[in-house]
Amino acid sequence: MRVFITGASSGLGAALARHYAAQGAILGLTGRDASRLEAVRRELAAVTECYTADVTDAAAMQAAAAHFIERHGVPEIVIGNAGISVGVDCADAEDLAVLDRVLRTNVTGLAATFQPFIAPMRRRGSGNLVGIASVAGLRGLPGSAAYSGAKAAAIAWLESLRVELQRDGVRVLTVCPGFIDTPMTRVNPYRMPFLLHADEAARRIAAIIRSRKRYAIVPWQMALVGRLMRLLPNAIYDRLARRAPHKPRKLPT
Ligand code: NAI
Repeated sequence: MRVFITGASSGLGAALARHYAAQGAILGLTGRDASRLEAVRRELAAVTECYTADVTDAAAMQAAAAHFIERHGVPEIVIGNAGISVGVDCADAEDLAVLDRVLRTNVTGLAATFQPFIAPMRRRGSGNLVGIASVAGLRGLPGSAAYSGAKAAAIAWLESLRVELQRDGVRVLTVCPGFIDTPMTRVNPYRMPFLLHADEAARRIAAIIRSRKRYAIVPWQMALVGRLMRLLPNAIYDRLARRAPHKPRKLPT
């Protein structure tokens, strides 16, 4: 099995890399920081190609994909995992640039991750393109307009792609995690229900990838919350959500 993962230098991406390495997979890992990526690779007893590439750099992503395909063949699984989350104040002019960066990373970056693999997977007639979205994309969370907006866009983008590729044998899977204990959530100054350890989240996501699902919320308790969130009429949602805690307004480096 060949697995290509973005944002693999920390959190869920690193946990997915550990999971698939333990299964004997050949790995293609991308991240922005070469030394952090190398530290992840050193832990793995697996054939691992590391690519220092920003997902917003389409040429770098194409070069990484081309190198991996040339050396190991077309992967069975590509996981678009890289993402950023930060609180924003929609009245603050500075946060327009933050919105732009969150959209470029979480939406355009996902598209740039999958794009180089689509034609080769189509030709082969198989493959799994897995997009890591978020429960935050199911409704607009207050204080998280950039992240919620980007993840909602990612969910819709993934759905379009899923339908486009359904006749080509290429499966597109949308995964919406709830809370996972990673550097992204360790800054949150509020209680996070159903928080998963990153290794457990990776194990559950890998099980979903093995299934035939097209869409999944992890963990199952969050799936119930997510379904309820989508069903709530706006008036009730607004009343409940206004008490929700806000994500800190500081971008990770
Ligand atoms: P994390 O911050 O530990 O990992 C994110 C990874 O993406 C890091 O390795 C980071 O360097 C990388 N990254 C960020 N911007 C990048 C860019 N422009 N180019 C390349 N790599 C980039 O956070 P975590 O939690 O592991 O996040 C992984 C994914 O899971 C993200 O898409 C996140 O939105 C999603 N997610 C996380 C949840 C959580 O509770 N931790 C919940 C729902 C979704």
